[in-house]
Amino acid sequence: MSFAGPQSCISHSFANEAASQGISPAGCTLRCATLVFAYFISTEALIGLALATRDASKCSPAPKSFLVSLLKKAMTLSAVDHPSTSHVLDPRQFDRAYLDELCKLTTRVRGLAKTKEGARMLQTLLPHKRAMLYFTQPSTRTFLSFSNACHVLGIRTSEIRNPSTSSEVKGESFEDSIRTFSSYVDVIIMRTWAAGMAEASAALMDRIRRRIPIINAGSGKDQHPTQALLDIYTLERSFEDRGGIDGKTIGFMGDLKRGRTVRSLAYLMENYRDVRLVFIAPDAFQIDDDIIEHLQQNNIVYEKRNALRPVLPELDGIYVTRLQSEHDTEGESGAFDHSLFHFGPAELQILKADGVIMHPLPRGPELDPAVDADPRAVYWRQERNGMWMRVALLLKTFGAEAEVDFG
Ligand code: NCD
Repeated sequence: MSFAGPQSCISHSFANEAASQGISPAGCTLRCATLVFAYFISTEALIGLALATRDASKCSPAPKSFLVSLLKKAMTLSAVDHPSTSHVLDPRQFDRAYLDELCKLTTRVRGLAKTKEGARMLQTLLPHKRAMLYFTQPSTRTFLSFSNACHVLGIRTSEIRNPSTSSEVKGESFEDSIRTFSSYVDVIIMRTWAAGMAEASAALMDRIRRRIPIINAGSGKDQHPTQALLDIYTLERSFEDRGGIDGKTIGFMGDLKRGRTVRSLAYLMENYRDVRLVFIAPDAFQIDDDIIEHLQQNNIVYEKRNALRPVLPELDGIYVTRLQSEHDTEGESGAFDHSLFHFGPAELQILKADGVIMHPLPRGPELDPAVDADPRAVYWRQERNGMWMRVALLLKTFGAEAEVDFG
């Protein structure tokens, strides 16, 4: 994209968008001014605007979707044109062009890493960068894949996995801790128990002179944007010879209320044509209304089901998830009946011959290990894809993707 300054880029695309939505030039000018103002203030203002827009019950659907699309454009412009500020906070910041490019880059780095020369070349791309892995919520895959993705690119890493080993125990505020980390590194990758902490850290970065990107590696029950990116990559590859994700029916099963991976992946589905999403869970664990509202606003076809077997033959992909019992406050998980939400050898018999079985892992009793040997089970590949996608994401975060020859 040629870059003529964010304001001109944004206002031009806003004017086109406004015209297509039947919004008057005066209304457009006002909205443009608001957005450009917000853009210059901070990412926090944009996020605030998005949340206000999402929650504005009095706002009629047209201006509401208009504002959301403007926000998305502004965040995408920020990510694409301002590598130094490209926080990764929420899947809604990505558009189809970004996703397609990221998938292509992921495949390219995977291929390069297969040879000694390619692996060496990747190591030379970012040895001048340092990353902080701030993971105060348990993690195996996301931590290891980010850590190894950094090492693939020559990025040195430091980590905090237990807040009791940081000055937070001396009463230092979260904000001061983050600001301290940012003094020493060039990117902070963070996983936290609570939602909103990556956004708060990004807002802090946008206020200080030494601003570095923040990557959300899982925020409580809310979002897990990088898992959604690797899930998209895995789905696209699995459906490679069948037109990709467009036109596919994807089922999501398990604790959809508290499972952030499905919440994030559902957001990304707005970028694909003619998809049908089927949410399979007991009522008490069904996907929350904020996601449903988003699907409705984006005209995505969805349905809710209370059992897997009746709908399984219609699915091109089934995304199985575990019960998130660590979020129980009153033993809620005890009410979950695994017998209706389980994938095992019997379910293999009724899944399409070219169906795909995914799971973000770790697994619980919902997914029988006997399924692992079936060629339709792609979750171990999905796990490994995560590392390569994170290599690609780090390249884009630092604006170094052009150094990988797309050949
Ligand atoms: C997921 C998570 O942490 O949200 N795991 C992962 O990142 N691969 C899924 C889960 O814990 O259930």
